[in-house]
Amino acid sequence: MNREPVRHIGPEELAEQGRFAALVQAHHSRPRSYHIVTYGCQMNAHDSETLAGTLSGMGIANAPRREEADLVLFNTCCIRDNAERKALGNITWLKEIKKKRPHMLIGVCGCMMQQRGMAETVLKQYPFVDIAFGTGSLYRLPEYLYLAVEEKRRVIDVSREESTIAEGLPVLRESPFKAYINIMFGCNNYCAYCIVPYVRGRERSRRADDILREAEALVADGVQEITLLGQNVNSYGNDTGEIPFAQLLRRLEATGIPRLRFMTSHPKDLSNELIEEYARNRALAPHLHLPVQSGSDNILAAMNRRYDVRTYLDRVDRLRAARPDIGLTTDLIVAFPGETEEDFQQSMALVERVRYDSAFTFIYSARTGTKAAGLPGQVAPDVASERIERLIAVQEGITREVLHSLRGQRMGILVEGASARRQSQMTGKCGRNISVNFTGGHEGLVGRIVPVHITGAGSNTLRGEYIKEEETT
Ligand code: SAH
Ligand code: SF4
Ligand code: F3S
Repeated sequence: MNREPVRHIGPEELAEQGRFAALVQAHHSRPRSYHIVTYGCQMNAHDSETLAGTLSGMGIANAPRREEADLVLFNTCCIRDNAERKALGNITWLKEIKKKRPHMLIGVCGCMMQQRGMAETVLKQYPFVDIAFGTGSLYRLPEYLYLAVEEKRRVIDVSREESTIAEGLPVLRESPFKAYINIMFGCNNYCAYCIVPYVRGRERSRRADDILREAEALVADGVQEITLLGQNVNSYGNDTGEIPFAQLLRRLEATGIPRLRFMTSHPKDLSNELIEEYARNRALAPHLHLPVQSGSDNILAAMNRRYDVRTYLDRVDRLRAARPDIGLTTDLIVAFPGETEEDFQQSMALVERVRYDSAFTFIYSARTGTKAAGLPGQVAPDVASERIERLIAVQEGITREVLHSLRGQRMGILVEGASARRQSQMTGKCGRNISVNFTGGHEGLVGRIVPVHITGAGSNTLRGEYIKEEETT
């Protein structure tokens, strides 16, 4: 178990990084452009926004194509074997480009780098990689660049510093009207299959005041939707003894943010207060991502999830009673070691019972160092593929039915832009986080939440018509 203490990065350390940033900026062979390739979950997406914020603050411009950038950063994920292989394949691809552009700097960061020995392996096997660093030391990017540019050194940060909290880092948002806020980092749950607790450090919550200040600044900047991030947001505050998650949501509502989301929730920690909050908090979007992983009590126990199917279903029912329009989504793993056909049937039955809007389904992937990697009863790959296909087919049918049942409703849509398929239509997301393409809108609606009448449904999107606001009362 990881017992590394939480370390707050102080103003002196950030000021030191500011000095490195200035030195890099003044350097004749500094990188002029950057490109970040991001894998994995929203945590990584948001970390990339922080890396981008740091780089643009140093006067380095974003390059839309990686082969044209002076600095390419790969922000990696190691949740499953294929995530790792994809990253390594893309890093290898860049080797040929770098032969023609030898000044190019290549950095690899993110969760993969936090695995024991991985950063050393990458530097050894990929000699064209210049910089490797982990998830807890993003704030030191200016220093790494300084060492690479000024001292022409290959930089490898193997301090395995993961349990840090750094406040006040610059963020360059992907979207002008949607934002992420990290409310906590790390995970203490040690689900038997999962690598995250080993690569993201122990659970640590940010102070509520820091979170609120960040939210207020985003609201003042015109942000319409905030997604709170944490591996297990329901245990927010457990480590600091400050306010619990439901109260944090209440205080965030008071900032005036029109739409509030969060992920991810662990079912075992879903409190009654949070269920009640769904009934009263008008900023909270009618959506909850509640990963169930399996519908078999035996498998849930082997996964160390610490809830059973009955408890899960009870919470689902109470959520729906509190907020009848709530849309649920989930994650499911098939072929966990020891999963029998009967266990799998129970996952199918659970999906039919809950009727999720959609589900992310994964074939179990053994991760070195986790408990499940050493379990007997690994399921054969052909059985695993056959199971996941059956599960996907069932969920696709349910998704179609759920979407059709939403016809006739009037929904608030946060407009993102013109529809990629039909330029005459606009597209955006409803509170349930489903994409809606609609007619009657225009570019001026982008970044606003507008009323749309739902008229039809496809396999995973809705269709609708804009209700002109002067017509609404
Ligand atoms: N903290 C989140 C999930 C993080 S990982 C939570 O607890 O729900 C996202 C999803 O990846 C998990 O919900 C799980 O379904 C899947 N996953 C994690 N480790 C996996 C593994 N070793 N093999 C297959 N899927 C995995
Ligand atoms: Fe992984 Fe479980 Fe933590 Fe989620 S709660 S990150 S699945 S260990
Ligand atoms: Fe991947 Fe790390 Fe997220 S392992 S899923 S990027 S926390």
